[in-house]
Amino acid sequence: MINRKLDTIFRILLIVCAAALGLLGLRGKGETPAPSADAGKEETPAETAPSETAAVHNLVAETGTGIQVTKAADWETKYPNQYETYMLNTENDEVVEYTEEHPYIKTLYDGYGFAISYGSARGHNYVIDDLYATGRPHKLANCFTCKTSSFTAAVLNDGDSTYAMAFDDFKNQVTDDFGCFHCHQNEPGVLYVTHRYLADAVADDLDSVPAADLSCGQCHSEYYFDPATKATTFGYVGLAAMNPDDMLAYENSITDGEGKMFADWTDETTGVRKLKVQHPEFETVLGEGSPHGLSTSIVTLTCADCHMGQTKAEDGTVFTNHNWTSPLDNKELLENNCSKCHKDLAAQVAEDQEKYWERTDAIAEKLVKLDEDLSAAVTAGTLSEEDLESCRLASRNAQWYWDFVFVENSNGVHNPSLTQHCLDQAEKYLEDANSYLKA
Ligand code: HEC
Ligand code: HEC
Ligand code: HEC
Ligand code: HEC
Repeated sequence: MINRKLDTIFRILLIVCAAALGLLGLRGKGETPAPSADAGKEETPAETAPSETAAVHNLVAETGTGIQVTKAADWETKYPNQYETYMLNTENDEVVEYTEEHPYIKTLYDGYGFAISYGSARGHNYVIDDLYATGRPHKLANCFTCKTSSFTAAVLNDGDSTYAMAFDDFKNQVTDDFGCFHCHQNEPGVLYVTHRYLADAVADDLDSVPAADLSCGQCHSEYYFDPATKATTFGYVGLAAMNPDDMLAYENSITDGEGKMFADWTDETTGVRKLKVQHPEFETVLGEGSPHGLSTSIVTLTCADCHMGQTKAEDGTVFTNHNWTSPLDNKELLENNCSKCHKDLAAQVAEDQEKYWERTDAIAEKLVKLDEDLSAAVTAGTLSEEDLESCRLASRNAQWYWDFVFVENSNGVHNPSLTQHCLDQAEKYLEDANSYLKA
């Protein structure tokens, strides 16, 4: 919890410092310095020291203030460069239907909405359109968590009860879709955590995470809906527990309203109480082994360093690009920054992703086979109740680890070593589950 007075003092101090450095308007508060895209080309990799992550003070939005959202379009005149690049997100409009591209998910997610319809992510400006268009059923307003800042403001003002509202009741209150408010509240340029569940999860480590990672981690992260309150909640407290092993152990330790082990849904044919991972970019990028993560010896880069970068307007103003794309589509960034160390990042990424798909697809097929064999064993009644339960638990765990990398949006490149760890664990649990079926 952040004290308001302290906030104000810190912000005044920071404004004074920033103004003194002539940086006002160029850097958000609490942002860790990182090699910027506009740094001189002559700079050698050796000079790009790892960022300091200590002395920052991240801002968390206050609750109960009655704040109203200033819509993105209302900032157009004041911040034309940021607004113009923000509107460019509309050009990133391609959607891939995963149930067609990866038919195995129809089996692996059977009984859950994602088996029916699962469109790939596209530009931020489409979040509301895509939410309304999906074939998945929506009951509660908690689905709006990462889609509209109208919902973000409502949670800040009215508390967690907002999550349990009926989806259709909240629909009428949506005035802004993906807005500046999510990251800046109503102060463009200042970074705020407006989705407070993230601050609760990162807890005492809040100030050791760069603000530009927090702003994306508000949505690009792993959450579940609390069975009792329906509130968006994370399965960890503090960075040490922010890893797929501890998160699984946590989800295996909590129960639903009926006292059964927590599950997102139960597969009717196998009886496996399954978990669905969402989009754990935050946990992956900041996780152990990340090449550009927090404890790297190479160089710390934030989500914004790789997915926004600095760009120059026609009048020479340098500003942060608000078109959130693949770094590979940002020539300016590759040339001015990444190419200092990566000779051909696109080729390296392509090669790693190819290997990633080979292994991820192969494990998915093994999981499908396990589902089929387990389902047959249930029908035939060949397993003791005890073995059946052990087999179901191993199957749940295997799918969790596989899903953790399947749904992570970088296809393995945010953190190659964590990706391998998850796939190794998936195979270990697959073997375990299969041992009951062979016995
Ligand atoms: C998803 C998060 C996010 C959203 C949404 C967002 N911004 Fe930003 N904004 C950032 C980040 C990250 C920075 C860079 C801050 C830093 O490096 O200190 C930034 C920086 C800025 C700055 C400081 C100057 C600069 O260019 O670096 C302004 C002004 C700004 N944003 C305006 C806007 C406006 C206007 C909107 C809506 C049209 C918006 N932002 C939406 C994340 C966001
Ligand atoms: C308020 C929630 C929210 C925040 C904050 C947010 N995102 Fe997103 N992002 C989404 C959603 C939802 C989508 C998918 C949109 C769709 O498909 O309709 C998305 C899509 C994207 C995509 C496009 C993916 C693709 O396949 O084309 C990128 C890149 C991205 N986000 C990066 C970022 C970065 C970097 C930040 C922080 C600076 C950030 N996002 C902050 C919710 C958010
Ligand atoms: C070191 C640079 C780097 C950092 C830091 C980084 N990313 Fe990425 N990200 C990438 C690369 C490279 C890809 C793969 C792009 C591709 O396949 O074209 C990617 C892919 C993505 C995608 C899918 C984009 C698409 O077009 O399909 C999303 C969403 C995303 N990252 C979000 C994030 C978020 C959120 C963070 C911070 C928690 C983050 N990234 C941090 C480099 C980075
Ligand atoms: C100071 C040198 C340096 C800079 C600058 C740098 N990287 Fe890296 N990066 C590395 C090293 C070293 C590794 C780990 C070894 C490897 O995979 O090449 C790495 C790994 C990566 C990986 C994992 C690649 C994989 O598939 O194995 C990605 C993605 C990545 N960097 C993206 C970026 C992006 C995007 C930028 C520019 C915004 C960037 N890097 C800037 C040195 C750097």
